[in-house]
Amino acid sequence: MAEAVIRVVGLGKSYATAAGLFPALRGVDLTILPGEYIAIMGPSGSGKSTFMNLLGCLDTPTMGDYFLTGENVAHMATDALAKLRNRTLGFVFQGFNLLPRMTLQDNVALPLVYAGINKEQRRQAAREQLDKVGLLKYAESLPSRISGGQQQRVAIARALVNKPQLILADEPTGNLDSQTSEEIMRLFGDLNAEGITIVLVTHEPDIAAHAKRQVRFLDGKLVSDHLTEQLPC
Ligand SMILES: Nc1ncnc2c1ncn2[C@@H]1O[C@H](COP(=O)(O)OP(=O)(O)OP(=O)(O)O)[C@@H](O)[C@H]1O
Ligand SMILES: [Mg+2]
Repeated sequence: MAEAVIRVVGLGKSYATAAGLFPALRGVDLTILPGEYIAIMGPSGSGKSTFMNLLGCLDTPTMGDYFLTGENVAHMATDALAKLRNRTLGFVFQGFNLLPRMTLQDNVALPLVYAGINKEQRRQAAREQLDKVGLLKYAESLPSRISGGQQQRVAIARALVNKPQLILADEPTGNLDSQTSEEIMRLFGDLNAEGITIVLVTHEPDIAAHAKRQVRFLDGKLVSDHLTEQLPC
């Protein structure tokens, strides 16, 4: 069997609050293999973003283990973690998170700055990804110049610029109308067809139906895990 891209075992996260420790994630086991396309669903507050932030190495767990491409990252030092994160995965946010005073090309190139790639190579790589999402003509524009759906495409280009094997997206269509959402989902479908593993959070069954596998969170636990084709319509 191929090595898992993601394997979490008993993963938990408790937040320190004024009222004491709050267990947002309470022991999740999940394995995701290369090339999978998985949607995470569940009500507000069920721990989806907490889980995604752990998968994206944006936060550290308080319990359990997380193996990212076979390496246990749960207790990895910050700089080693940043390197692994940078070469392994791209993260797409609901709010696009583009830097408003930087051109789209420079926004897309940003992860390569952190990876120590030289300027000309950054420029070329960013333009290649902008072309892939159909927005090369806006390379020198600022984010405010383009629509929300286009901004999300740029954010996806930024997530792809390091050629990661894994894309994590937390409600990537949450701020988009349904037609634009479908365009974004087509893009994710194309990326998955190229072999990129995709994990996305959504509230919408129509969006989740694009994924091949759907899991559901409730009260910080994973309560169901099905292949989309086996779900009742
Ligand atoms: N930094 C934090 N400090 C304290 N509690 C937090 C923090 N972040 C999240 N929580 C709590 O943890 C629980 C899970 O939050 P999380 O954001 O993971 O839910 P979610 O499933 O992504 O919800 P939504 O669908 O609304 O985005 C919630 O009760 C939330 O209030
Ligand atoms: Mg959330």
